[in-house]
Amino acid sequence: MTQWFDNDDMWRIFYDCMFDADSFQSADQDCENLLKLCDFPGHNVLDLACGPGRHVAGFARRGLAVTGVDLSGFLLNQAAQHIDKEGLDATLVHADLLRYEPQKTFDLITNLFSSFGYYENPKDNQQVLNNAYRWLKPGGQFVLDVFSKEQAAMHIEPVHCTEYDNGDVRFERPLLIDNMNVYANEWILVREGQAYRWQYQHFIYSAQELQGRLEKAGFDDIHIYGSMCGDDYDMESTRLVLVARK
Ligand SMILES: C[S@@+](CC[C@H](N)C(=O)[O-])C[C@H]1O[C@@H](n2cnc3c(N)ncnc32)[C@H](O)[C@@H]1O
Repeated sequence: MTQWFDNDDMWRIFYDCMFDADSFQSADQDCENLLKLCDFPGHNVLDLACGPGRHVAGFARRGLAVTGVDLSGFLLNQAAQHIDKEGLDATLVHADLLRYEPQKTFDLITNLFSSFGYYENPKDNQQVLNNAYRWLKPGGQFVLDVFSKEQAAMHIEPVHCTEYDNGDVRFERPLLIDNMNVYANEWILVREGQAYRWQYQHFIYSAQELQGRLEKAGFDDIHIYGSMCGDDYDMESTRLVLVARK
């Protein structure tokens, strides 16, 4: 797999599709639900692959001491603008998840909105989970939120088209490849008569596969949900949320 995610031109072009105002609102609600789901008594939060800071802002609004880490300078810049505009307090770190070494441990670590499984070498993806375990305080919790293999197998459409208020049209052409272990998608964005193409792929996991990887990282108290509200993970779920305690 190529390092498709290390490309700020693509994040810039596709930003409006991925991170519109509604998505910031729903991320804020996710933070509210997630903290309830964890029955969160702590204060220090680390958001791994925080992107434009949707959840960093959500945690900061709730008075938590939050650090967000991301590889994209463009997305971190967007995060900084959101945080400054609201007068919130948060720490943003420009780093690759595998190279980052925090100076403290955390009560809660999150990895949200399908930001996991991007590394080509499976050992590197496992390392992200191992690090999360290492960087948690004893009793701390890790929340992983992905679009799962089961969900992809059930809902994938050969072509999916979305039209936006600003006139942009996005076509998606997703596939499950490599024995259904890799989600490979192509986005074609038509904007003002120009077409922009973005191909990306990442590993995709079942609930059981992720549970096994979290156990391998050291977690033993692992709960599986179908939403941040704690719904059962079943045929109706559109997300897979794992909450693991150290
Ligand atoms: C789908 S976006 C989600 C962003 C954010 N979690 C959200 O919900 O808004 C995936 C994010 O993962 C980040 N990312 C991918 N690989 C990374 C890496 N190796 N180190 C740090 N961030 C990475 C990307 O830059 C991007 O911001």
